[in-house]
Amino acid sequence: MHRWKTIVEPFRIHSVEPVRFSSVNERSEHLVEAGYNLFNLRADDVLIDLLTDSGTGAMSRDQWAAIQHGDESYAGSPSWFRFLGAVQHLFPFRHVIPTHQGRAAEKILFTVIGGPGKAVPNNTHFDTTRANVEHTGAEAVDLVIAEGRRPGVRHPFKGNMDVDALDAFIRERGPEHVPVVFMTITNNSGGGQPVSLANLRAVREVCDRYGLPLFLDACRFAENAWFIHEREDGQRGRSIAAIVREMASLADGMTMSAKKDGLANIGGWLALNDDRWAAECRNLLILTEGFPTYGGLAGRDLEAIAQGLREVVDEHYLHYRIRSTAYLADALDQAGVPVMLPPGGHAVYLDARALLAHIPPLQYPGQALAVALYREGGIRGCEIGTVMFGRRPDGTEAPAAMDLVRLAIPRRTYTQSHIDYVIEVVRWVATRAGELGGLRIVDEPPALRHFTARFEPL
Ligand SMILES: Cc1ncc(COP(=O)(O)O)c(C=O)c1O
Repeated sequence: MHRWKTIVEPFRIHSVEPVRFSSVNERSEHLVEAGYNLFNLRADDVLIDLLTDSGTGAMSRDQWAAIQHGDESYAGSPSWFRFLGAVQHLFPFRHVIPTHQGRAAEKILFTVIGGPGKAVPNNTHFDTTRANVEHTGAEAVDLVIAEGRRPGVRHPFKGNMDVDALDAFIRERGPEHVPVVFMTITNNSGGGQPVSLANLRAVREVCDRYGLPLFLDACRFAENAWFIHEREDGQRGRSIAAIVREMASLADGMTMSAKKDGLANIGGWLALNDDRWAAECRNLLILTEGFPTYGGLAGRDLEAIAQGLREVVDEHYLHYRIRSTAYLADALDQAGVPVMLPPGGHAVYLDARALLAHIPPLQYPGQALAVALYREGGIRGCEIGTVMFGRRPDGTEAPAAMDLVRLAIPRRTYTQSHIDYVIEVVRWVATRAGELGGLRIVDEPPALRHFTARFEPL
């Protein structure tokens, strides 16, 4: 498998969809209309869409075939049991609660266990996770290892939790104020970086010391397992599914967005062992999502996810997935563009703070770079920095730990020549970085502002 350098996509193209070309002038107009927020663009005006890897992947022939087996019975559908079987094969938690996507699982869980005076530690909260914790009045605290905050520093498991900081945090707050410890695998907001089995075991020990449950935010569990397979001592000979099951065995529950490593366009779940929490979560599910055997999903969605979970642990798929992400990062690194190293699983993160050092964080260098990549090449990335994380719950603003632009790679969607084009455009923009200016926000909502805020160039 590792003999040849060329990355062979482990699929042939069976059905194609057109991409739309546009000019720099047209894109400059689209930017004005969108208030310089790339979330406000029409997708048809984007050539290469790297905004997110969430729900944007291509489904396989077998997933489309599985959709035909979708049974839309309101209760107890056979599609539900196929979904349940596929989830519990990898994550044998007692209760599985289907939801329409990951944040619905987060909303339900934190409504039950969050609240004022509580604090939730995580390696790094994803934006929706943080927002759902804070929405209950609880505090979301990020305790990733120091290397995880330094984009240029290489470490095999940059998503690891700082175990000593976790222990100190729980002692300082008192375990009675910490309802759960979370681990995000891979660590999306920290660069898509993996967490090692050794670190998960160490976090488990801390949790056991204080009698606290450990939950996984497992959106990219298969990519995390692949990194463990490749980088952690003694793991090469194991199957990906066995590594996933070991990660699950160290936890008491999980939240999941099937739009990532479920290889589906929609879906998610909450899974847990605690009977009392599960009963409360199911009651909320019925209130907001649907009956417990379909949650917010159609039977056909449950089928697509069940099949996706079988495909995502395939070693040929994961080898291609991780190598093709690294291909983009390595090419940019070799061209002198500052990127987060080593590359994570689902995305390449450009270090906008380093590249646009002349733009202060409160003038949003990440947003400025993302806007330039769209204007010059029709490439849509996503700012992960001060726009996304700089606004505090009290309305004040401070620079985020990093200012990054995430180029997220949809699964099984773009070919190597699409990625070669991205490399060319990023290099072109990077050589002219000194000409870019910052932005200011002219309108923003109180939470998750990056989705809808409007900007003006300074
Ligand atoms: C780590 C992580 N957690 C949670 C979510 C939320 O999932 P969803 O978008 O399905 O609501 C995401 C989505 O990008 C994610 O990356």
